[in-house]
Amino acid sequence: MESDSSKSNFCLLLFFLLVSTTMLPAMVSASLGINYGQIGDNLPAPEKAVPLVQSIGATKVRLYDANPLVLRAFAGTDIELTVEVGNEHLSEMSDPQKALDWVRSNVQEYLPATNITGIMVGNEVLTLYDSGLSNNLVAAMQTIHGALLTLGLDKQIKVTTSHSFNVMETSYPPSAGAFKQDLTGHITEILEFHNQTGSPFCVNIYPYFAYKANPEKIPLAYVVFEPNSGFVDPNTSVKYDNMFFGQIDAVYSALSLLGFEEVSVCVAETGWPSKGDADEAGATIDNAAKYNGNLMKMNIEVDVYIFALFNENRKPGPTSERNFGLFKPDTSPVYFVGDTTNKLNTTDEASASLSAIKRFRLILFLCLASTALL
Ligand SMILES: *[C@@H]1O[C@H](CO)[C@@H](O)[C@H](O)[C@H]1NC(C)=O
Ligand SMILES: *[C@@H]1O[C@H](CO)[C@@H](O)[C@H](O)[C@H]1NC(C)=O
Ligand SMILES: *[C@@H]1O[C@H](CO)[C@@H](O)[C@H](O)[C@H]1NC(C)=O
Ligand SMILES: *[C@@H]1O[C@H](CO)[C@@H](O)[C@H](O)[C@H]1NC(C)=O
Repeated sequence: MESDSSKSNFCLLLFFLLVSTTMLPAMVSASLGINYGQIGDNLPAPEKAVPLVQSIGATKVRLYDANPLVLRAFAGTDIELTVEVGNEHLSEMSDPQKALDWVRSNVQEYLPATNITGIMVGNEVLTLYDSGLSNNLVAAMQTIHGALLTLGLDKQIKVTTSHSFNVMETSYPPSAGAFKQDLTGHITEILEFHNQTGSPFCVNIYPYFAYKANPEKIPLAYVVFEPNSGFVDPNTSVKYDNMFFGQIDAVYSALSLLGFEEVSVCVAETGWPSKGDADEAGATIDNAAKYNGNLMKMNIEVDVYIFALFNENRKPGPTSERNFGLFKPDTSPVYFVGDTTNKLNTTDEASASLSAIKRFRLILFLCLASTALL
């Protein structure tokens, strides 16, 4: 009897301590990143992009290639760069010599003046359902990492790949997050790679697309980080007041389900279009300014890269696709996102509920462990 009650008291105390820490602003504030896409025929010279990146307080830039002009433009700045091995190069990268050549000429060549700290191997490969590409993905990540090891660069440069949110089978409620069954084999191999090399699992997260598909059901305030009543995950009792954090926690749940709690998550792309076609609900300047502006003022525990630096006029698809940029090609801002270098002193539950799933699991674990101890 007595031992039982001391056990439950101990659990209650733990619960109180851990839950109360979720009320504090996130302890670790990851820095802001921005995606520098270049599918446009009217974009400014890369030298003009540098002060724009600095003006929004971003300290990380991701490229979709390893454009020498861009890499040279960022030399001597304190901005970290991530370069990409395009999907079209994946099959040749399974040859270690080709991977070594690629890293030498696209990465090592620019160090240390340009601070390249990441290599993306492939973009949204798994959801293209091209078995040739998918089968080459992990091998390419491994040979690129092997090349970094050979060159003594593996500590300073992390290798990863980016995934569409469509790798998820379930994302609601966040605690039920799970990957699509038919992708689990490949994802497990990728997670083994991340677990071994300490690199993050990167996902593209766009609450905009969920809203666009279901504007009557999903409250706009909930997706653009404005005050709203939020939603409580019935499994964990964690309250979410924005979809973005819910989707990140869904990814954490999916990782956990495969046994990879220790692998960290990164958001390789997120953003909101300032313009869209008549059937693209929510694609307005006002919403884009709210989404990106609010996001940029938050302290978030994971690395987040906003999509994108510029509007890109040659992107195919609906009008929204060409209007994700924070800046126009003439370098004027599409809208004002505010001074993001002065972070909000946020104490809202939202930013704190990030990876609340992890804390919830920790509580369970400690309570179970205490049963053994007490
Ligand atoms: C590159 O960025 C990393 C991570 O922020 C930092 O530790 C390192 O000092 C930077 N290297 C250079 C040469 O600036
Ligand atoms: C709780 O999570 C499990 C998976 O972890 C899921 O199957 C179940 O539907 C969730 N329950 C509720 C009430 O959401
Ligand atoms: C992750 O790596 C650690 C250290 O190498 C290992 O002990 C653990 O089993 C790995 N986890 C999984 C799920 O493979
Ligand atoms: C945050 O708090 C600091 C110190 O209390 C203060 O100097 C700063 O102006 C605050 N920032 C905002 C955006 O309120």
